[in-house]
Amino acid sequence: MIRDASLDDLAAIMALEHTAFPTDAWSEPMMREELRSPHGRYYVVEQAGRLVGYAGLRAPQGGRDGDIQTIALESAARGRGQGRALLRHLLSEAAVRGVVEVFLEVRDDNPVAQALYRSEGFLEVGRRPRYYQPDDVDAIVMSLDVAAWRGAAEDTAAAQSPAAGEGPADTARGAWCT
Ligand SMILES: CC(C)(COP(=O)(O)OP(=O)(O)OC[C@H]1O[C@@H](n2cnc3c(N)ncnc32)[C@H](O)[C@@H]1OP(=O)(O)O)[C@@H](O)C(=O)NCCC(=O)NCCS
Repeated sequence: MIRDASLDDLAAIMALEHTAFPTDAWSEPMMREELRSPHGRYYVVEQAGRLVGYAGLRAPQGGRDGDIQTIALESAARGRGQGRALLRHLLSEAAVRGVVEVFLEVRDDNPVAQALYRSEGFLEVGRRPRYYQPDDVDAIVMSLDVAAWRGAAEDTAAAQSPAAGEGPADTARGAWCT
């Protein structure tokens, strides 16, 4: 189950953060500020009452751009579509907030995350050499046109619906975004 994150999730999120990003984890004060900020939205994945993943968007009201701040699942929960579901929640929230373009940075040595982002339509728009320290790994900067993503998602949902092509596209799209 994916639900909104709250400050009560901070300890569990930090435990996952240190496991998923052992060399460059955010500090607890940084994560607390993220969870409290009105300029973003965080979600968590819960399984049997236990938190197994989280993801966050930064998208200040009135701004054109948004950023995928983070996304991670514990290793046992990976590879089952939950990363994609979290990412789609963030992108749907970006659309609701009127974001035009979403950016993210991903490590050059993280092909799994890159494949996920590319499959949702993110394109590489730049590189930041040696951005991740102390590992000395480049960051790939990617961006996504939110309107194009939304249109593609609606097309896919309509094609998969039994009444494909009939009815409002937003109804079909709700199947995986709510
Ligand atoms: C990146 C991450 C969030 C993806 O979540 P996930 O639940 O494992 O991914 P999903 O099952 O939703 O798969 C989504 C896509 O990712 C890619 N992917 C997932 N597992 C993969 C693997 N073992 N090898 C290659 N690609 C893989 C595929 O493109 C997949 O799409 P497909 O199933 O249609 O082939 C997760 O692996 C994770 O938490 N990794 C550690 C933290 C991290 O690197 N975060 C990203 C920081 S930028």
